[in-house]
Amino acid sequence: MKTLVAYSSLTGNTQKVAQAISDAIPGAEIHPVDKTPNLSDYGLIIVGFWVDRGQPDRKTQEFIERVEGKPVGFFFTLGAYPDSDHAGDVARVTEEMIAKGQNQVLGSFRCQGKVDPALLERMKKSLPADHPHAQMSPQRKARLEEAAKHPNDEDLLRAKAFADDTYRKALSAPAKPNGGGRP
Ligand SMILES: Cc1cc2nc3c(=O)[nH]c(=O)nc-3n(C[C@H](O)[C@H](O)[C@H](O)COP(=O)(O)O)c2cc1C
Repeated sequence: MKTLVAYSSLTGNTQKVAQAISDAIPGAEIHPVDKTPNLSDYGLIIVGFWVDRGQPDRKTQEFIERVEGKPVGFFFTLGAYPDSDHAGDVARVTEEMIAKGQNQVLGSFRCQGKVDPALLERMKKSLPADHPHAQMSPQRKARLEEAAKHPNDEDLLRAKAFADDTYRKALSAPAKPNGGGRP
């Protein structure tokens, strides 16, 4: 089955995970979300992104709007803990976006990714002093310090397991008739 791994990454975290996923799938092609070949050629699409204010980043949202009637897996990296409500909300919102195109969501994967220090500096300067992201609480400091260690080798192993699982599911997924698509 021809597989596309499409990713969006500003600072390299998501790209690293995308590469591990692509390496785990026989013959997979890997491309940035805004430079993919024609999607009709692929039997499985795995899309990966960095989380931007609680959602897939804009380029990824535009990509998802072009995906119709496919088996799809998705993954993301984020500053928050992967088991947080915030991460769960991102997964739910993404699943809804993908499902709009009559796609079949086969599974998802997420892990933390270091947050660009320039972004933290900008937040500190531009947000009102009482905003939670303008301050460095002990909890936030601990979360950012943990994020700075990711994606690590263990994340990449889990990403590989997600890739294996998604590929296996796609091989056994019933083919969709033509004519699926966004309402
Ligand atoms: C503008 C901006 C907005 C972000 N918004 C969120 C967010 O809402 N939630 C979160 O957990 N992380 C957020 N992050 C952190 C990134 O999603 C995280 O560091 C990610 O791993 C970056 O991936 P990349 O290296 O592939 O660009 C944000 C980062 C940036 C630069």
